Amino acid sequence: MHLTKTLISTTCALLLGAPALLAACDSGGDGATSDTLGGDTAATPMVDATAVATTAMAYKAGGFTRITEVPAMSQHQGSDVVVWAQNDVAAIYRAADPANTSASVAFPEGATIVKEQLDDQGEMYAITVMHKGPAGYAPDSDDWFFERVEKDGTISQQGQVGFCITCHSPRKPVDWVFGITAANQTAQ
Ligand code: HEC
Repeated sequence: MHLTKTLISTTCALLLGAPALLAACDSGGDGATSDTLGGDTAATPMVDATAVATTAMAYKAGGFTRITEVPAMSQHQGSDVVVWAQNDVAAIYRAADPANTSASVAFPEGATIVKEQLDDQGEMYAITVMHKGPAGYAPDSDDWFFERVEKDGTISQQGQVGFCITCHSPRKPVDWVFGITAANQTAQ
């Protein structure tokens, strides 16, 4: 993780002289640079990072279904994680089998999935979020918007975050999600 981050920042630092490329580095919420030169160019679809964070941080307020039964040690973070999916896409998320990359899973625009990261006391210290943006928002990542929100609401990562995308890309056939084993899913 840290190595990846360092590489990304190093690459971005090298691009400081090239503003157009740099814009792609700051993992800004819009994901794509909009074309300000051609006045009649159709606007690139955007994702409102603050709105996504607000929706996601309310994951315990009723709009989301807890999918993970027993908090499970993340495969890549040194903490337990619990995944929540918005109620109307929970069934789609449940169908994603971590052991199967050929499963056909497709989320609709607006779908939001939250991964809660828990500390040693079982308290959330941050969430990572995947939100399906509008068609055309980010063609290279099938329009997924990535975000990390700290417990205090600070958005620490957002947009087309390189290290999120790199790690999730092998799951592209399953619409970029890893999924939770059926054995560790909550009852429906
Ligand atoms: C090193 C690999 C890796 C990186 C980097 C990574 N993820 Fe994940 N992500 C996973 C794995 C593996 C899972 C399955 C649950 C687990 O073991 O943590 C997962 C699960 C998720 C989930 C639950 C949906 C699913 O895929 O089942 C979300 C949401 C998520 N990640 C968002 C993000 C965001 C946002 C970032 C960047 C800030 C990110 N991830 C970076 C590997 C990664």
